[in-house]
Amino acid sequence: MKTLVIFYSYTGTAKRIALNYAVQNAAETLEILDVKRPGVLKAYTSGCVAAMQGKPWAIRPLAVNPGAYNRLVLFVPVWANNLPPAVNALLALLPGGKKIEVKAVSGSGRSGQKCKERLGSLLQAKGCTLESYTDLKQSDALRELQ
Ligand SMILES: Cc1cc2nc3c(=O)[nH]c(=O)nc-3n(C[C@H](O)[C@H](O)[C@H](O)COP(=O)(O)O)c2cc1C
Repeated sequence: MKTLVIFYSYTGTAKRIALNYAVQNAAETLEILDVKRPGVLKAYTSGCVAAMQGKPWAIRPLAVNPGAYNRLVLFVPVWANNLPPAVNALLALLPGGKKIEVKAVSGSGRSGQKCKERLGSLLQAKGCTLESYTDLKQSDALRELQ
């Protein structure tokens, strides 16, 4: 089974965890990149507002076609108990009919029910299924890497 690990990472944590997972599972990787990476102030202000509203921010064209993989595993940081705007942009580009496994990385390890529900309905609108949803606490997940 061909697996693609997709990740967005603002400060590098989700990236480290995703790359480690990809190596362990012999998966290929796709990094989601902002067209213009926001500064910290912007991330915590308009970034969090966009996250709470479920709005997208512009991302760079995908370097890999997720449609070519049987299994998609998505690592995302949590912003304001929601998905970062770059991840909302990614979800809009996913091909229909895919089953997606999601690993939400956050400081608290609790992304909240709303984040999971929003993700589920965004995927459903694309004809995709949220196969699994796991909350990862940043400190625990990083400790396991060492
Ligand atoms: C803009 C912003 C908003 C955040 N909001 C939350 C939050 O609501 N709850 C939480 O537990 N952590 C929150 N965090 C912490 C991140 O989810 C956490 O540090 C994550 O591991 C960062 O992943 P990254 O380094 O891949 O970007 C936030 C971080 C940022 C930058």
